[in-house]
Amino acid sequence: MPDPESILSADPRASWAAHAIGVSEAIERVLRSGKYILGPEVEAFEREWAAYVGCAFSIGVASGTDALELALRAAGISAGDVVVTAANTVTATAAAIERTGASLALADIDPASFTLSPAALAEWLDAPDAPEVRAVVPVHLYGQPANMPALCALARVHGFKLIEDAAQAHGARVAGRRVGDWGAAGAFSFYPTKNLGAIGDGGAVVTSDPDFATRVRSLRQYGWKDRYVASEPGFNSRLDELQAAILRVKLGSLDTETGRRRAIAARYRRALSGLPDLVLPTEVAGSEMVWHQFVVRHPERAALQRHLESRRVLAGVLYPTPIHLQPAYRDRVMMPPNGLEEAERACREVLSLPVHPQLGDDDMERVIEAVRTFAG
Ligand SMILES: Cc1ncc(COP(=O)(O)O)c(C=O)c1O
Repeated sequence: MPDPESILSADPRASWAAHAIGVSEAIERVLRSGKYILGPEVEAFEREWAAYVGCAFSIGVASGTDALELALRAAGISAGDVVVTAANTVTATAAAIERTGASLALADIDPASFTLSPAALAEWLDAPDAPEVRAVVPVHLYGQPANMPALCALARVHGFKLIEDAAQAHGARVAGRRVGDWGAAGAFSFYPTKNLGAIGDGGAVVTSDPDFATRVRSLRQYGWKDRYVASEPGFNSRLDELQAAILRVKLGSLDTETGRRRAIAARYRRALSGLPDLVLPTEVAGSEMVWHQFVVRHPERAALQRHLESRRVLAGVLYPTPIHLQPAYRDRVMMPPNGLEEAERACREVLSLPVHPQLGDDDMERVIEAVRTFAG
């Protein structure tokens, strides 16, 4: 347990406390309803979440990892296919891709946005011995949208499907359009510390294709199209009524909370600019970040993290190891000929400063002071 004076980089208990009355009422309502699985709360949340993202359909599932796997399966991905994602993502993205039976391939990132580099991907796919890629999973990491206009253009040329990993980017926009609404489908996680977080696991697939939505709905429940009749082998991956009811309460405050994240990020960017060796995150022109993380880079990352900890500021490293250097994936995933240098460098240098919406002004100033004294 961190001591109570510490400032945490994410605080699920503070998120619950901010919504305590609404959450308790939602739980009570579900308990009294006697309907605990795939009932009116899930249906209502699915409508509300689809409307928020701007898609025609949202299908509630058990986690973000499941959302990715089911979306890839609904897109027709299976054993023998090649699926590319960004090398600096969390291992959940890689696990979901491999669970479909597909071969995992990695591409490098754009260092300014920490997201999949369309230029690096294009260079690889245009090479004479490039693999035939069936799907690409851009990851909107830290709340920063990947370059979806460029990736959509590449998808048209090379004929691959785009399945967005939007687990860290609820509500982020690029060119005015929300993430999740660009590809064949988008996958969201409602893990408790996400920008929209449940009090347990949860996830959703969003899409505007009715056949795709029908397939995900069938896959999430034993492959049933009609009750008790399986039209294909399926899974049990359902968002439950309690989590859906809680998510509906929190969805009502998502834009306000994103506004608070943006205000904290703006204050950090003003107060921390110009410090030696400290690289601040930037919002790519034309996109609207939702600041799931405020990620700085520093060549002495470990020393900076220790210094912050000595001042009771707990800054996290998301993520210290790229996929191809993880014990589970090392020496067996498909690597691009142009390398993964930017992803490797990012993993060595990134550090997340606390940015959650319940962070008070005093805590924010303490974080700033702690970073500034390191630099000094
Ligand atoms: C980028 C990304 N993808 C996928 C996931 C998996 O989501 P979940 O933990 O809900 O399975 C997460 C969450 O940890 C994530 O951050």
